[in-house]
Amino acid sequence: MNQDRDAILATIPSPCFVLEEELLARNLAIFDRVQAAVPIRIMLALKGYALFHSFPQIRTTLKGASASSLWEARLAAEEFGTEVHVYSPAYRDEDVPEILPLASHMTFNSIGQWERFRDRVAAHTPNKPSAGLRINPEYSPVQTALYNPCQPSTRLGVSAAYLGDSLPAGIDGFLSHNLCESDSFALEKTIANIERLFGKFLPQLKWLNFGGGHLMTRKDYDVEHAIAVLNAFHDRHPHIQLWMEPGSAIVWETGFLTGKILDLIPTDEVVNVMLDLSFTAHMPDCLEMPYKPVIRGAREPEAGDTRYRMGGSSCLAGDFLGDYAFDRNLAIGDRLIFEDMMHYTMVKSSMFNGVMHPAIGHIDKENNFTLWREFGYEDYRSRLG
Ligand SMILES: Cc1ncc(COP(=O)(O)O)c(C=O)c1O
Repeated sequence: MNQDRDAILATIPSPCFVLEEELLARNLAIFDRVQAAVPIRIMLALKGYALFHSFPQIRTTLKGASASSLWEARLAAEEFGTEVHVYSPAYRDEDVPEILPLASHMTFNSIGQWERFRDRVAAHTPNKPSAGLRINPEYSPVQTALYNPCQPSTRLGVSAAYLGDSLPAGIDGFLSHNLCESDSFALEKTIANIERLFGKFLPQLKWLNFGGGHLMTRKDYDVEHAIAVLNAFHDRHPHIQLWMEPGSAIVWETGFLTGKILDLIPTDEVVNVMLDLSFTAHMPDCLEMPYKPVIRGAREPEAGDTRYRMGGSSCLAGDFLGDYAFDRNLAIGDRLIFEDMMHYTMVKSSMFNGVMHPAIGHIDKENNFTLWREFGYEDYRSRLG
């Protein structure tokens, strides 16, 4: 990190999520490249990242936003402003009249939901959303059950066996979501399964959405292979408009979460580092996936190292992660930086235990820091009554 960057860090409140404009631009360039090479329209999945102050930048590349609820649909329409694809595992009756005017596409998770709402969709003229069904491609590379939409007896998507011989009247498209931080070879297998299981419906489709989980911005992702696989599908089915709706990949490694050390508690084996952050409240995927986030300047401990165990500031016994080693002794007041904390953090965070919610800020290409949002007691209180 250069001098400028160190100086900026000193001005950032603690704790704080920080998006970096330049890193986001680097990711968007990859999606520009894909969209230039393939007739595909790529959207942002708001469930993974919904920091709307950055939508003007994202909108220069992406063609729309996908929403999983009325509130996400409203945010997409108000702040993203282009195409809004809505898919919910189960729509609430009272939300549908509000969703219909916002949605360019509306996807149903089951035949039952489609039958329940199809007349309301048809009657919504002149701006009738294009209706779709979520399908179950019966293949997912995801090992963690919590994130595997194709697990046995899944509640997500219609399996081919339940679809019968013809597409339900009024259905224009399919959504298939089965990947998570996956590579282009998983996309290739997904496409093979869709063609094998749902091939007879493809001639009638207007669009097909390959969902999220395409980690095109990870350094080892084979973008050229994905382009080839998608173009080959397009050549076989040129009448189908292709879409995808990644979340994580858009903001992969584009920002960090910074916090401060409040206390150090030595035990026989480790030093517990008490942070003004919480894994369960601010970085829940670390515990749910689970995974060990990268901390700037830290490494895996070796024999003889002091083992630092990162502890959250909630009372949840398991609100800790570790262990890490540093080439210096940590001290109370030190700042730590958890890397790659833009996706599935702000959209999932809570104020459990009343812990301070991190502020949200932005570093632009000229290295200027802007504080976009701070949270206070009223934000905590207003959710409860
Ligand atoms: C239907 C659907 N679309 C898109 C996504 C975004 O996935 P990712 O953030 O892994 O790209 C998800 C994630 O759960 C999803 O369920």
